Amino acid sequence: MMKFLMIVASLTAICSALPSRLGRQTRQSGRELESMILNNTMELDPEGSFRLDWDVVYEDPSNPLLVLEMRVATTGWFSLRFTSADLTLGDYFYGAYDASKPSNSFFLDKHCALVDGLGCETAEGPRDDFRNDFQLLSFLFGTDYTVMRIARQVDTGNNLQDVVITPGPMMIGWAWSTGIFNNGFLTPIEKFGFQTVVLIAAE
Ligand SMILES: *[C@@H]1O[C@H](CO)[C@@H](O)[C@H](O)[C@H]1NC(C)=O
Repeated sequence: MMKFLMIVASLTAICSALPSRLGRQTRQSGRELESMILNNTMELDPEGSFRLDWDVVYEDPSNPLLVLEMRVATTGWFSLRFTSADLTLGDYFYGAYDASKPSNSFFLDKHCALVDGLGCETAEGPRDDFRNDFQLLSFLFGTDYTVMRIARQVDTGNNLQDVVITPGPMMIGWAWSTGIFNNGFLTPIEKFGFQTVVLIAAE
């Protein structure tokens, strides 16, 4: 039997790790962003474990808002990475929803210096940004998948830790795990990969 819940971002109680800066207001109401149709879609994993849907909202044409929805074939944690064009900075979203223990849930903004455009220089992986520039719009989950919809400005202003989303191809990384925490540490990555994605069409 499929059971699912849809919970909007205003329900912040689920997330003890919730950074206080979350939910910075955009002029478009959260509810519109939460329900709008996202006209772009791509299976980041050719085997279908990680789908990305997205669209760009040009209310502020000088700094549009990117709305992203990840549908991942896990109930564990997952991540999405924007990579700087020179492959030195990895800018991550980390998300997890734990239905059996909601206080384990998180949605985080992380970063690290990259080695050869692939992994982080630090063994412990990416670190939290000083500010979370993602807005959680909605999430839902089933027994074998998690969906999270988030928004982020193309240029967050935190350019040491966030990649500016540019028109044309960008290198996007994805990863997921089957679990969330084990002894206080994130469970290991089960599957990951990289894709070239045009989030914003080139002029
Ligand atoms: C998605 O496409 C529909 C139909 O063409 C359009 O009305 C809508 O504005 C598009 N959404 C965005 C965010 O551009």
